[in-house]
Amino acid sequence: MAIRLAVPNEIVPGERRIALEPGVAQRLIKMGVEISMEKGAAISSHFSDDQFVGVKMVDSVDALYKNADMIFKVAPPTLEELDKMNDGSVVVGFMAPHKNAEMMKKMNEKKITSFSMELVPRISRAQSMDALSSQAAISGYKGVLMGADIASVFFPMLTTAAGTIRPAKVVIIGAGVAGLQAIATAKRLGAIVEAYDVRSATKEQCESLGARFIDTGVSADGEGGYARELTDDEKQQQRDVLAKHISMADVVVSTAAIPGRPSPKIIDKAMVDNMKVGSVIIDLAAEGGGNCVLSEPGDAVKYEGRVTIYAPLNVPSQVPVHASEMYSKNLFNLISPFINENAELAFDWEDDVISKCVLTHDGEIKADMYKDQ
Ligand code: NAI
Repeated sequence: MAIRLAVPNEIVPGERRIALEPGVAQRLIKMGVEISMEKGAAISSHFSDDQFVGVKMVDSVDALYKNADMIFKVAPPTLEELDKMNDGSVVVGFMAPHKNAEMMKKMNEKKITSFSMELVPRISRAQSMDALSSQAAISGYKGVLMGADIASVFFPMLTTAAGTIRPAKVVIIGAGVAGLQAIATAKRLGAIVEAYDVRSATKEQCESLGARFIDTGVSADGEGGYARELTDDEKQQQRDVLAKHISMADVVVSTAAIPGRPSPKIIDKAMVDNMKVGSVIIDLAAEGGGNCVLSEPGDAVKYEGRVTIYAPLNVPSQVPVHASEMYSKNLFNLISPFINENAELAFDWEDDVISKCVLTHDGEIKADMYKDQ
């Protein structure tokens, strides 16, 4: 029997992305997949129902889940959503498995096969499936635009009849996927860009995008290409050097993260005290608590009437069309190799991507982080 895919409306407040966009829907339909979608589910992503040619639009969420073998999601399924899913069905999405023990338990009880987009390995072959990267690039881009919007200065140098305007100084902290896109965006807008990361490999990447690299003398390359946590001495050395650069910035965009850990606190109160009046911090590490000690995740604060510190959550949702397009393609690239010529699902459990991102399958917990519990 051809697989029946369902795509529900995302119910988390503020989530504007959808897990299926019209182009990917067409590709799946050509493979023989039957698709149902909750009526109006994609409107917050700015796709109308009639763009999904060949997709059955369903009013009742209960009926949607009841007639589904596989569900594409953006946010982790709630327990109520899982209740509605058929036993033995497949669900794919951002699952935040380390934060959702109850979800894991319920998926296991219902023998659901679940895949976590966060656990897709960072290997060359899986780049087209890497939703962390596609969404981080959007955050980096949008974060700079937010900074430019709030800033009280132009980004580019302008030569006008009223005099010459100096370009803005932008400091990017953390040069992973989001940070590199932030550098590229700030450069395109004409700012002078400085960038910093604890991983030594990033110096060349930052410079190739036109940023000046801030060398603090601290290098913290960790496992698998990620950063490790710094020692107290290293943190102090980093602070001393960074403080000077931050004090001259018009906009700081921070993106530093350590997998599975709270965001490192890099910008302390003394640094903010020394920032220019009217300057801005966009803290894109807000999901993990933020890189600035004064950040309030989800909010903008005006510190002592001088510095705006904005720590937005779920930034990709603010570019919902392209965020959904990229995310939906990531899902397609992960799952479609396992849809056979009869439009049935046939996973290869030896596959090095599938085997890394499966959480639960056939009543067994597969995720390493839950194995010993
Ligand atoms: P991330 O979101 O985990 O962290 C963002 C950045 O913050 C990282 O560059 C990290 O080094 C930096 N950071 C951490 N602590 C810091 C501190 N105290 N001060 C300053 N910076 C700090 O990183 P993301 O964007 O997920 O990338 C992580 C790694 O994965 C990188 O090596 C990247 O090149 C690699 N990658 C590989 C891919 C592939 O081969 N398919 C795809 C995407 C990323």
